[in-house]
Amino acid sequence: MSDSDQQKIEQLRKDIQRHDHLYYVKDAPEITDREYDRLMERLKELEAKHPEWITPDSPTQRVGGQPFSKEFSEEFGEPQRGLKPVTHKVPMLSLDNTYNVEELRDFHNRVVKNLGTKEVEYVVELKIDGLGVSLTYEDGILVRGATRGDGKTGEDITANLKTLRSIPLTIPMQKAGYKTMEVRGEVYMNRRGFDALNRKREEEGEAPFANPRNAAAGSLRLLDSRITASRPLHIWVYALGHFEGPAFNTHFEMLKQMGEFGFRTNPNTRLCQSFDDIQKMIDEWQEKQSTLDYDVDGLVIKVNSIAAQNKLGSTNKHPRWAAAFKYEAEEAETVVQDIRVQVGRTGAVTPVAELTPVFVSGSTVSRATLHNEDEIVRLDVRVGDRVVIIKAGEIIPKVIRVLDKERKGRQPKFKMPKTCPKCDSKIERPEGEAVWRCVNAACPAQLKERLLHFASRNAMDIDHLGTAMVDQLVDTGKVKSFYELFDLQLEDVSGLERMAEKSGKNLIDAIAKSKQAGLARLVFGLGIRHVGQRVAQVLAQTYGSMDALAKAPYEDLEAIDEIGPRIAESIREFFGEKHNKKELCKLKQHKLVMTEEKKAGGGSLEGKQFVLTGTLENMTRDEAKRKIIEAGGRVTSSVSAKTDYVLAGTDPGSKLTKAQKLGIAILSEKEFQKLLDT
Ligand code: IVH
Repeated sequence: MSDSDQQKIEQLRKDIQRHDHLYYVKDAPEITDREYDRLMERLKELEAKHPEWITPDSPTQRVGGQPFSKEFSEEFGEPQRGLKPVTHKVPMLSLDNTYNVEELRDFHNRVVKNLGTKEVEYVVELKIDGLGVSLTYEDGILVRGATRGDGKTGEDITANLKTLRSIPLTIPMQKAGYKTMEVRGEVYMNRRGFDALNRKREEEGEAPFANPRNAAAGSLRLLDSRITASRPLHIWVYALGHFEGPAFNTHFEMLKQMGEFGFRTNPNTRLCQSFDDIQKMIDEWQEKQSTLDYDVDGLVIKVNSIAAQNKLGSTNKHPRWAAAFKYEAEEAETVVQDIRVQVGRTGAVTPVAELTPVFVSGSTVSRATLHNEDEIVRLDVRVGDRVVIIKAGEIIPKVIRVLDKERKGRQPKFKMPKTCPKCDSKIERPEGEAVWRCVNAACPAQLKERLLHFASRNAMDIDHLGTAMVDQLVDTGKVKSFYELFDLQLEDVSGLERMAEKSGKNLIDAIAKSKQAGLARLVFGLGIRHVGQRVAQVLAQTYGSMDALAKAPYEDLEAIDEIGPRIAESIREFFGEKHNKKELCKLKQHKLVMTEEKKAGGGSLEGKQFVLTGTLENMTRDEAKRKIIEAGGRVTSSVSAKTDYVLAGTDPGSKLTKAQKLGIAILSEKEFQKLLDT
């Protein structure tokens, strides 16, 4: 009996590994997500029955258990970081950069001269804008993953790298004669995943990442691999470090072997027999790089023959057999008209440059983020400066350089305010963070943002409560918290600017109507950090009432499928605060609906994934999204094998074509309505 369980476990592990490879490496899944989940469930059940058979390379072990503890980190003398140092057996060198064809030709001429041959074969690869990592396999098993660090010493991020399903936990290297092997590659976040992550962060009141590279770097160095697991990270493998086993004749051959071992190798890699071929590739990718779903900052040109590589050798910084050719991001010049400081819903104080409008990378830009205090100091940017901005991979354009430094004498340095620019309260910058936050919970700027969020479409959906109205209500002191909205009388609002009696009544009616919005919308509207629309829905469904949710212990919250420790902690913190307790008590007195019927087995769309495309006739896309979420479904931005339905309006985009290719069910608006009604 046990014997056959062991066989079953082995078979399941093999099957799951194969399907991971098909899905994450080949992009050609053979089974549905549900079937995949079932395999995983079965394996988990069997392993629970026989915990002694759990091995570190089992697919169930990808998402690690507990985050690194404090003791663990202190052992290595870096309490706040807690990542163990790893010495690279073969240093992880960097590449010599070239910025134009002449410089690259100099590199080629040096290679030709040092090798003493005319004919040199090169491999040309995309230069991926991510993070270099090293993966060590021993006897076929992934035993260590590390960052590049300074090239000599990196940090141990094994637990985090294991969560990337495009990184195999085991490889058939013994069959090929290898005992140990260190594989190197670039971990990156794809653009679509990055956009979705940032949208979610903004919805949850968190500062967005500046670009996919920062997002990938941040995700890889987290102490809790469960968060890393939720980030859209991928890898392209492109080099070897130390290995014991048969040598390779060429770099290209090595890449082929890595592909056969199950690693992702970039399909755009080419062999080039001449400098002309390289130049063609440079021209080709200048245009084509923007069509990729990940950021590329140039090409890497490598001598193909390993014997030739060895002959050329390395300096202590970079190999002489390889060079990077860097593309410049599209830049534009403009003038900083003003530097303003914004205060967000959670009190984050962010400097923003107001610019003379300028056209760059396909759109007109009139504002650019300056991110934070460190960035302003680094750039030394001042009002009136001519600056260079770029839009390379970032959703928000950024200032990268100040041009006319000579103006500096006449202009004061920009200083971050010492207090909140809106309420003059203390601002704080927690250790290790780059963001200053206003500590005053009653800060009018925060309050305005919070009220706007509370009233927004997907929260309480209060018509007529826009920016101008919120500004007046807060500035006149009429509203200092959510519940005071429900205290408002007609005479309070009809006296306000641009407010006829009729529209005053409309506003009061809309506020009253919103009392029926329901638990999920209210929970979302409260603006609890990290609680987005979907999580609010899950909480409402799980607890059924605000009272139950307010009392839910941390362990219960964390046990919910879609809720991690960060969200659970934030919910506990919110309900533990005195003024939030008062707020909820007052909202209850105003008879807001604070319960939600628990639907047996969830909503009609429980667990279904939707993608929306085209224009809908009877509802906006936002409304459709809300309806899907309310019925227990999810909305994602791109079509994949995981998508259950594509809701297509008129003028659908490429998402429809992709869905047709993958054989995913496509719904008209009518069919969608029907599905909702069932
Ligand atoms: S090869 C000895 N190939 O660029 C050469 N590096 O500036 C080792 N990178 O640290 C690197 N794409 O993180 C190589 N196709 C590619 C690459 C690549 C991106 C990164 C890598 C490296 C940095 C060098």
